[in-house]
Amino acid sequence: MSSSISRYTLAIIKPDILIRQSQCLDSIIQKIETKFNIVNRKQIVLSISEAEQFYNDHRGKFFYERLVGFMSRGPIIPMVLSEKNSQVDSIKSWREFIGPTHAENARKLDCLRGEYGFSDTWNGFHGSGSHDEALNEIKFFFPDFDKTNQ
Ligand code: PPS
Repeated sequence: MSSSISRYTLAIIKPDILIRQSQCLDSIIQKIETKFNIVNRKQIVLSISEAEQFYNDHRGKFFYERLVGFMSRGPIIPMVLSEKNSQVDSIKSWREFIGPTHAENARKLDCLRGEYGFSDTWNGFHGSGSHDEALNEIKFFFPDFDKTNQ
Protein backbone atom coordinates (compact mmCIF):
# COMPACT_ATOMS: atom_id res chain seq x y z
CA MET A 1 0.00 0.00 0.00
CA SER A 2 1.36 3.42 -0.97
CA SER A 3 2.25 5.66 1.99
CA SER A 4 0.48 8.55 0.23
CA ILE A 5 -2.87 6.88 0.84
CA SER A 6 -4.68 8.36 3.84
CA ARG A 7 -6.30 5.67 5.93
CA TYR A 8 -8.53 7.99 7.95
CA THR A 9 -10.61 11.05 7.37
CA LEU A 10 -12.80 13.23 9.53
CA ALA A 11 -16.42 13.40 8.48
CA ILE A 12 -19.25 15.42 10.01
CA ILE A 13 -22.97 14.99 9.67
CA LYS A 14 -24.08 18.62 9.97
CA PRO A 15 -26.96 20.19 11.94
CA ASP A 16 -29.32 20.42 8.96
CA ILE A 17 -29.56 16.62 8.92
CA LEU A 18 -30.14 16.36 12.67
CA ILE A 19 -32.56 19.29 12.82
CA ARG A 20 -34.60 18.78 9.65
CA GLN A 21 -33.98 15.22 8.49
CA SER A 22 -33.30 13.17 11.60
CA GLN A 23 -35.66 10.49 10.27
CA CYS A 24 -33.05 9.86 7.54
CA LEU A 25 -30.14 9.39 9.93
CA ASP A 26 -30.30 5.58 10.08
CA SER A 27 -30.36 5.22 6.31
CA ILE A 28 -27.52 7.76 5.97
CA ILE A 29 -25.41 5.75 8.43
CA GLN A 30 -26.24 2.51 6.59
CA LYS A 31 -25.23 4.11 3.30
CA ILE A 32 -21.94 5.32 4.80
CA GLU A 33 -21.25 1.84 6.16
CA THR A 34 -21.50 0.29 2.69
CA LYS A 35 -18.16 1.96 1.89
CA PHE A 36 -16.54 3.09 5.14
CA ASN A 37 -15.83 1.73 8.59
CA ILE A 38 -16.97 4.16 11.26
CA VAL A 39 -13.96 4.00 13.54
CA ASN A 40 -15.16 6.67 15.97
CA ARG A 41 -18.39 8.57 16.28
CA LYS A 42 -20.09 10.94 18.71
CA GLN A 43 -22.90 13.47 18.81
CA ILE A 44 -22.17 16.95 20.16
CA VAL A 45 -23.25 20.59 19.90
CA LEU A 46 -20.39 22.97 19.12
CA SER A 47 -20.19 26.29 20.93
CA ILE A 48 -19.66 29.32 18.72
CA SER A 49 -16.04 29.55 19.81
CA GLU A 50 -15.44 25.85 19.08
CA ALA A 51 -16.96 26.27 15.61
CA GLU A 52 -14.78 29.39 15.08
CA GLN A 53 -11.74 27.36 16.04
CA PHE A 54 -12.66 24.42 13.79
CA TYR A 55 -13.19 26.70 10.77
CA ASN A 56 -10.31 29.05 11.57
CA ASP A 57 -8.78 28.57 8.09
CA HIS A 58 -11.89 30.18 6.58
CA ARG A 59 -11.74 33.24 8.86
CA GLY A 60 -12.13 36.39 6.75
CA LYS A 61 -14.14 34.71 3.98
CA PHE A 62 -17.57 36.19 3.28
CA PHE A 63 -19.32 33.06 4.52
CA TYR A 64 -17.30 32.54 7.74
CA GLU A 65 -19.85 33.93 10.24
CA ARG A 66 -22.72 32.19 8.48
CA LEU A 67 -20.84 28.88 8.53
CA VAL A 68 -19.90 29.22 12.21
CA GLY A 69 -23.47 30.18 13.14
CA PHE A 70 -24.89 27.24 11.22
CA MET A 71 -22.46 24.67 12.63
CA SER A 72 -23.18 25.73 16.21
CA ARG A 73 -26.96 25.88 15.93
CA GLY A 74 -27.65 22.21 16.59
CA PRO A 75 -26.20 18.74 17.07
CA ILE A 76 -23.55 17.36 14.77
CA ILE A 77 -22.05 13.89 14.39
CA PRO A 78 -18.29 13.93 13.86
CA MET A 79 -16.85 10.57 12.76
CA VAL A 80 -13.49 9.08 11.96
CA LEU A 81 -13.98 7.09 8.77
CA SER A 82 -11.78 4.55 7.07
CA GLU A 83 -12.39 3.23 3.54
CA LYS A 84 -13.26 -0.46 3.53
CA ASN A 85 -10.92 -0.87 0.57
CA SER A 86 -7.51 -0.22 2.12
CA GLN A 87 -6.04 0.56 -1.35
CA VAL A 88 -8.28 3.61 -1.61
CA ASP A 89 -7.60 7.01 -0.05
CA SER A 90 -10.25 7.67 2.61
CA ILE A 91 -10.08 11.47 2.27
CA LYS A 92 -10.67 11.49 -1.50
CA SER A 93 -13.22 8.71 -1.34
CA TRP A 94 -15.34 10.46 1.34
CA ARG A 95 -15.18 13.80 -0.52
CA GLU A 96 -16.45 12.02 -3.66
CA PHE A 97 -19.09 10.25 -1.62
CA ILE A 98 -20.50 13.53 -0.28
CA GLY A 99 -20.05 15.48 -3.55
CA PRO A 100 -19.53 19.17 -4.33
CA THR A 101 -19.94 21.91 -1.70
CA HIS A 102 -23.05 23.46 -3.20
CA ALA A 103 -26.04 21.12 -3.00
CA GLU A 104 -27.29 22.54 -6.34
CA ASN A 105 -24.19 21.19 -8.11
CA ALA A 106 -24.32 17.97 -6.12
CA ARG A 107 -27.90 17.28 -7.16
CA LYS A 108 -26.80 16.10 -10.63
CA LEU A 109 -24.52 13.47 -9.10
CA ASP A 110 -25.07 10.33 -7.07
CA CYS A 111 -23.79 11.64 -3.72
CA LEU A 112 -24.96 12.45 -0.18
CA ARG A 113 -25.09 16.24 -0.61
CA GLY A 114 -27.12 15.78 -3.77
CA GLU A 115 -29.63 13.65 -1.91
CA TYR A 116 -29.81 15.50 1.44
CA GLY A 117 -28.30 18.99 0.96
CA PHE A 118 -30.15 22.30 0.43
CA SER A 119 -27.46 24.91 -0.28
CA ASP A 120 -23.77 25.73 0.18
CA THR A 121 -24.35 26.24 3.91
CA TRP A 122 -26.99 23.61 4.58
CA ASN A 123 -25.13 20.90 2.71
CA GLY A 124 -25.34 18.08 5.24
CA PHE A 125 -21.78 16.80 5.38
CA HIS A 126 -18.16 17.81 5.90
CA GLY A 127 -15.00 16.02 4.84
CA SER A 128 -11.35 16.84 5.50
CA GLY A 129 -9.56 18.31 2.49
CA SER A 130 -6.05 16.93 2.97
CA HIS A 131 -3.99 14.52 5.05
CA ASP A 132 -2.79 17.24 7.47
CA GLU A 133 -6.28 18.68 7.78
CA ALA A 134 -7.64 15.21 8.58
CA LEU A 135 -5.06 14.72 11.33
CA ASN A 136 -5.89 18.11 12.87
CA GLU A 137 -9.63 17.63 12.58
CA ILE A 138 -9.52 14.12 14.06
CA LYS A 139 -7.49 15.50 16.96
CA PHE A 140 -10.00 18.33 17.39
CA PHE A 141 -12.95 15.99 17.93
CA PHE A 142 -11.21 12.84 19.16
CA PRO A 143 -8.09 13.91 21.08
CA ASP A 144 -7.51 10.33 22.30
CA PHE A 145 -7.68 8.80 18.83
CA ASP A 146 -4.57 6.72 18.25
CA LYS A 147 -4.27 5.53 14.68
CA THR A 148 -1.53 3.08 15.60
CA ASN A 149 -4.03 1.10 17.71
CA GLN A 150 -6.63 0.79 14.99
S1 PPS B 1 -13.24 27.18 -0.10
O1 PPS B 1 -13.24 28.63 0.02
O2 PPS B 1 -13.02 26.70 -1.48
O3 PPS B 1 -12.32 26.54 0.87
O4 PPS B 1 -14.67 26.77 0.30
P1 PPS B 1 -15.34 25.35 0.22
O5 PPS B 1 -14.35 24.23 0.35
O6 PPS B 1 -16.23 25.32 -0.97
O7 PPS B 1 -16.20 25.42 1.51
C1 PPS B 1 -15.60 25.43 2.78
C2 PPS B 1 -16.68 25.32 3.84
O8 PPS B 1 -17.46 26.50 3.81
C3 PPS B 1 -18.83 26.20 3.57
N1 PPS B 1 -19.36 27.20 2.66
C4 PPS B 1 -20.28 28.06 2.99
N2 PPS B 1 -20.91 28.25 4.16
C5 PPS B 1 -21.80 29.24 4.19
N3 PPS B 1 -22.13 30.03 3.14
C6 PPS B 1 -21.51 29.88 1.97
N4 PPS B 1 -21.83 30.68 0.93
C7 PPS B 1 -20.53 28.85 1.86
N5 PPS B 1 -19.72 28.42 0.88
C8 PPS B 1 -19.01 27.42 1.39
C9 PPS B 1 -18.87 24.83 2.96
O9 PPS B 1 -20.07 24.18 3.28
C10 PPS B 1 -17.65 24.19 3.56
O10 PPS B 1 -17.96 23.62 4.82
P2 PPS B 1 -17.37 22.21 5.21
O11 PPS B 1 -17.79 21.98 6.62
O12 PPS B 1 -15.87 22.30 5.04
O13 PPS B 1 -18.02 21.25 4.28
